[in-house]
Amino acid sequence: MNVATTNAPFKEIDADLLVLFARPETSLADTFPGIEQAEADATESDTPVLFYADGQRLALVGIKDDEAETLRAAAAKGASTAQKLKAASVALALPDAGPEQTAALVEGFILGGYQFLDYKTGDNQPTSVETLTLHGSGIDEAVEAARIRAESACFARDLVNTSPHDKTPVLLAERAKKMATEVGLECEVWNKARVEKERMGGLLAVNRGSQDPPAFIILEHKPEHPVNERPIVLVGKAVVFDTGGLSLKPTKNSMDKMKADMGGGAAVLGAMRAVAALDLPLHVVALVPATDNRPGEKAYVPGDVVTMRSGLTVEVLNTDAEGRMILADALDVAKEHSPELTVSVATLTGAAVVALGTRVAAVLTSEDDDSLSRLDAFTAAGDRTGEWIAPLPMRAHYAEQLKSDTADIKNVGGREAGTITAAKFLEHFTRDDGEAAYPWVHLDIAGTAFLQGTTQPYRPSGGTGFGVRLLMDVLEHRVME
Ligand code: BES
Ligand code: ZN
Ligand code: ZN
Repeated sequence: MNVATTNAPFKEIDADLLVLFARPETSLADTFPGIEQAEADATESDTPVLFYADGQRLALVGIKDDEAETLRAAAAKGASTAQKLKAASVALALPDAGPEQTAALVEGFILGGYQFLDYKTGDNQPTSVETLTLHGSGIDEAVEAARIRAESACFARDLVNTSPHDKTPVLLAERAKKMATEVGLECEVWNKARVEKERMGGLLAVNRGSQDPPAFIILEHKPEHPVNERPIVLVGKAVVFDTGGLSLKPTKNSMDKMKADMGGGAAVLGAMRAVAALDLPLHVVALVPATDNRPGEKAYVPGDVVTMRSGLTVEVLNTDAEGRMILADALDVAKEHSPELTVSVATLTGAAVVALGTRVAAVLTSEDDDSLSRLDAFTAAGDRTGEWIAPLPMRAHYAEQLKSDTADIKNVGGREAGTITAAKFLEHFTRDDGEAAYPWVHLDIAGTAFLQGTTQPYRPSGGTGFGVRLLMDVLEHRVME
């Protein structure tokens, strides 16, 4: 989408549709000269009010306050109105909007208007908005950054919404490579032979039942003068389809959602796209292990003991706890980058959905003197972006649930505290000889990555791109530190 700015008088903006955002006490006659107060009463309504003034088509959207989240939702209403009217050009106007508010409008408009049409045939495809104009001055930079963040979230949504057979690990890696070339990122892909050479036992075990080889995608943004001495590493789970393996999932409300099991990987790839497009002065590395999880003839079985890349042995008691197997190897690779921080993002546990639902993700972090400040920083980023997260404890005793009779640890911790024991499993691989190799933050986005049969303001059903804007916010704040 083309996004432009103007400070011409509202009524002179040339667009198929002009969306006006009105605060509760707004005098329309003052702020939008030529528009009658009478229409203001209509702003109480949930749907935009449409009318003509001087031959210009207008939509009035009421807002209860100036919070970013309110503005994103309001702009999304403008986007769906524009689609219904088949408007190719749209202008948005909120009187006296600053850069932050304008950015929220851009994000809400792009995210709210998102459609996934790759598999729709015929010529009754809905038209989409080509040009978006924002009214105001001193907003150019914020508008451009917001466009990039929102389009990067849409990039992640596209990946999640793609049919599994069109995003095999190798195909996913090709899409990552293409994106990397477009925005100027370094990209390296480890193929199966390399993954074997690296002794990535977790990734290889999960891949054993598959027809398609695994891939390990590495992206790097290394600007000339980064503000950080050591990189930030982002790790994303990309199980391109999770059948559960031999511990097979039921179809309804379970396996039927599992094309989204690469939502963490998609979020990491989306965030890297934005980091590079905005050329953040920050050294960032992404590690994305990709495979599907299937009950093939050679599939790993409950009872198998797997030697992981780190050397730790894992007794697999449920093949459906596969995400932690592939992330463990990636977290081990992360050590080699000596990161100042590693963040993992994954649709990891059904327990996260049960605990927090589909609008809030879980955040967990290794325990040290800085745990609380990391949780605060991430939670604040969640509040700013509307990608809400809530912390869960990482107390030492949870690790006891992973004790194995046979191997060093087992891959499941029982019914209780499933999101925490999954994180406790991962924590083993963030350590070297019992010492933390790096500070680590883990996001379990199982509930928030994908919406089925339901929507949220500016999130249509399907992939949400959850995590892209959250990670970007964290990284942008790191630059400002
Ligand atoms: N991909 C699932 C987690 C998931 C569940 C994501 C619902 C999105 C929505 C994961 O691989 C899984 O199956 N986890 C198991 C772990 C269990 C066997 C310990 C789960 O949560 O049931
Ligand atoms: Zn699973
Ligand atoms: Zn999974």
